[in-house]
Amino acid sequence: MNELQKLDKLKTELALAETFEEIALLDSAAEAYATFAKRNGMAKEQQDEIGKYRIEVEAKKGEWLDANFPHGSPEGESGKLRGNQNEPRKMPATKKESAASRALNRMSKEAKDSIIEVLEEGEKVVTPQAVVNEFKKIERQEKYQDNIDSFNDVTPVSKDIQIIEGDSIKVLPTLKVESFDLLITDPPYGMEFQSNQREKKFDNIENDSIEDTISVIDGVLMAAVPLLKAGAQFYMFGSINYLQHIKPIIEKHLTIKQILIWDRGIIGMGDLKSYGTSYEIIYFGYKKDFNKLNGIRERDVLQFNKLPNSNINHPTEKPTELIEYLVRKSSNEGDSVLDPFAGSGSTLIAARDTNRKAVGIELEKDYVNLIKSRL
Ligand SMILES: C[S@@+](CC[C@H](N)C(=O)[O-])C[C@H]1O[C@@H](n2cnc3c(N)ncnc32)[C@H](O)[C@@H]1O
Repeated sequence: MNELQKLDKLKTELALAETFEEIALLDSAAEAYATFAKRNGMAKEQQDEIGKYRIEVEAKKGEWLDANFPHGSPEGESGKLRGNQNEPRKMPATKKESAASRALNRMSKEAKDSIIEVLEEGEKVVTPQAVVNEFKKIERQEKYQDNIDSFNDVTPVSKDIQIIEGDSIKVLPTLKVESFDLLITDPPYGMEFQSNQREKKFDNIENDSIEDTISVIDGVLMAAVPLLKAGAQFYMFGSINYLQHIKPIIEKHLTIKQILIWDRGIIGMGDLKSYGTSYEIIYFGYKKDFNKLNGIRERDVLQFNKLPNSNINHPTEKPTELIEYLVRKSSNEGDSVLDPFAGSGSTLIAARDTNRKAVGIELEKDYVNLIKSRL
């Protein structure tokens, strides 16, 4: 039997398959066939034909899942199946396994065909995952354009520096993937009280308890990391008190290279009977590959005086000189910087003053207005 006949036979079997087990069996066979084709250096056209068959199998799997578990499963789709392993699986596929199948089933025939055509013409072999990835890319580009159009009236700052009002978890997925060279951010963290020593009083910062902090940082990093280019570096401010909670969350998404100390020069809030805290930590690291920092080798203790309380407009406002220093160490002129917790806009100001581009996102309208006035 030649390869074409083999594929025809498989297609007939697929048309007859009804149960999930039957479809899953054909799926495993198709995957093995594709691996065999790749290993044996089959012509790209033949590999593409196998790829197209695999797409049909995946879509049929998705159709079955959507028909039988339209809202996912109450158990099982988290990737690990819970309960007694001897009992029959209530959910036949994990979330990861079913994501591509469901996406292929929901994609229109025209969308699928035009993506396959582009893949066939290009160097990429047609595979179910390649079609899904391409589709997601197109969707994101469309959302990005809609987003830019809808935010145009509220972000008049400049072409290169943008502030977007909103929840980062919702805004970030609408931005362009792999478009930022640097992430500098200062998330709200578990500081549930305000210093009575402050002359100005501020509202508690949004999401400022440790549980909220963990889930916000996790969600924001999940959405922000795909926007970073490979090799992009990041700086995230934090408190030593929450190291054990926050470090593993960051490490889920990025590689921590070092933890820097920002010596603020003056004592902050805390237990008045003990040593006065005069530093904050900065998680420093990268996505995928580590590139050498700009300039000479410098100390990991950064000495920049905190702004006097009488001069600040935001409870955790960072000195722009400190952010400028980080921007210069980890990016070049013309690069793009992202800050999903913009606060008073220190990152945006530092980016502007060092000839970088930047996008900041801030939840609170008052702080957005503050940023606009500072820029
Ligand atoms: C620690 S402050 C940032 C201060 C900033 N680095 C500066 O120098 O002014 C964190 C900011 O994130 C904002 N924020 C909290 N949750 C957010 C979210 N989900 N999306 C966007 N901004 C958020 C808060 O309103 C707060 O202004």
